[in-house]
Formats: sequence, structure tokens, C-alpha cells
Amino acid sequence: MKLDQFELSDKVAIVTGAGHGIGEAIALTFAGAGAHVVCAARTQAEIEDTAEKIRACGRRALAVPCDVMETVQLEKLVTATLQEFGRIDLLVNNAGGGVPMPALETSEKTFERVVRFNLTAPFLLTRLVVPHMVSTAGGGAVVNISSGASRMALGGLAAYGSAKAGLNQLTRITAAEFAPKVRVNCISAGLVDTPGSGSVNKGKIAQQVAARIPLQRIGSVDDIAGCALYLASPAACWVTGKVFEVDGGADVSPISIPLPPL
Ligand SMILES: NC(=O)c1ccc[n+]([C@@H]2O[C@H](COP(=O)([O-])OP(=O)(O)OC[C@H]3O[C@@H](n4cnc5c(N)ncnc54)[C@H](OP(=O)(O)O)[C@@H]3O)[C@@H](O)[C@H]2O)c1
Repeated sequence: MKLDQFELSDKVAIVTGAGHGIGEAIALTFAGAGAHVVCAARTQAEIEDTAEKIRACGRRALAVPCDVMETVQLEKLVTATLQEFGRIDLLVNNAGGGVPMPALETSEKTFERVVRFNLTAPFLLTRLVVPHMVSTAGGGAVVNISSGASRMALGGLAAYGSAKAGLNQLTRITAAEFAPKVRVNCISAGLVDTPGSGSVNKGKIAQQVAARIPLQRIGSVDDIAGCALYLASPAACWVTGKVFEVDGGADVSPISIPLPPL
């Protein structure tokens, strides 16, 4: 196999949540592989910073402030991308997350917001982007960022885990609908050291958590970015509708969330 199968030369990628964490790493990795990248998140200074790093490696970048919770802002993100680059080849639905809480204390509004963030927003952006992938580039690839919480029964993550499970299935169904022109795959990430994963990555707790992961460490953002590059690249041209578990081999959750008894 030729290693140029892993290149993304002159492809145009949109990455949500590209201000820091996994999204920033994916944006920089795609740029390193030759892509031009549209960096979307709410904090302008952070996405500008990611865009600057991309330009420093000789690729074009556009920072678009965007709250993925707002449909109008998703529409503006797509419009801005087409105005700047005239095409879209790749979409990474990375922005997502959730705060642990007991199911019985999760309000209707909170549950719906978490589903909106982790499932509805990726659906809406995919629906907006895919027709342009076909009309401007002839096809493309979507990578969704899910979580081990989508398949592990980890108490405290009712809304988040359910939303991510929905994202896994959205991946399979949209892959079936969009084949053969657009591939859709998903990464079910284990615990990764990012601002979003917080205190479990620090000190003694981090050591205890790492000991419960078969590969004996918490993940790095590059562990996820490497898989995203594979899935976005021609190397994965016979892969669609799949959920890749990138988690150090963890089949059970390495963390437990303290919850009050019923
Ligand atoms: N870290 C982990 O251990 C882990 C494990 C499994 C799965 N994941 C998944 O991996 C993805 C990235 O996680 P992460 O830990 O890298 O997250 P993070 O450190 O919290 O970073 C999130 C990024 O998304 C942006 N963002 C947040 N809310 C947004 C919104 N409403 N609209 C647009 N952008 C928004 C943030 O910037 P702004 O706040 O400026 O918008 C930031 O750039 C998420 O889908 C998460 O569920 C993470």
C-alpha cells in the first residue's frame, strides 16, 4: 500500500469544536496531511489560534465562530466555507459533551439540550453539508465523534450516553443512505486528556483510572486524531457505517461517577 493513501491534499474539511481538545488535534492533523480546514467553535480567539497553527504549516484555514446549538449558525458555517473554498470534502462532527448527573435529577430541558448538542447538531450539520460534498467535490467523508458512554452502562450519563448511542446509529443509517458517494464513520472515544474531561486526568485519580485501562494510560488527543485521519482519508475508502472504539482497550468504564442511592 502506498502511504499517500493517508494524504488529504487540498481537501476542504470542516471541524466543529476545533478551538481546543480533540477537535483542535483533528484540525491540525488534517492540515498536516494536506487539508485546508474550517475551524468552528464559539470562542473566536481559540479558533483563530488553531487557524494560525494551520497556516503556519502551509495550509489555508478559516476560523468561523459557530454555536452548533443554533441552526442559523450551522447554515452560516456552511455558507462561509463555500464562499472561501468553493467545496467541502470532509466534515468532523466533534463538538459535544455533557455534565454527569443522576438520571432522576436530569430535567427535561437538560436532557433535550444534551441530545441537541451530541446528536441533533451533528445530524443538522451533516444534512446541510452532504449535498454540497456531492455537488462540489463529487463525494466526501463524515467522521462523528462519539464516546464509550454510548455502549457502557455508566451511571450518571443518561442523557450524554443515550445521545452518543444515537450518534452511533445515525452514523450507520446515514452511511447506508449516502453510499457510495459519501462515507460516514464514527469514533467511540475512551477517556482522553482534554479540558473537557477535567479532573479525572489529574494526579492520583488519573493513575487509578489509567490502571483500569488495558493499555495503562488515559488517551491523548492524537490517539483520536490518528483514527480520524484514517477514516477521512482514501485509506478508508472501503469503510463506512462503522463505529471505531479508540479507548486503550477498555471494555468497561475506567471511571465511576458517585451517585446518591435511590
Ligand atoms: N475528552 C474525553 O475524554 C472524551 C471521551 C469520549 C468522547 N469525547 C467526545 O469528544 C468530543 C470532543 O471532546 P473534548 O474533550 O475535546 O471537548 P472539550 O475539551 O470540551 O472541547 C470542546 C470544543 O468544542 C467547542 N464547543 C463547545 N460547545 C460548543 C458549541 N455549542 N458549539 C460549537 N463548539 C462548541 C469548544 O469551544 P467553545 O467552548 O469555545 O465553543 C471546544 O473547542 C466531544 O464530542 C466529546 O463528547 C471526549
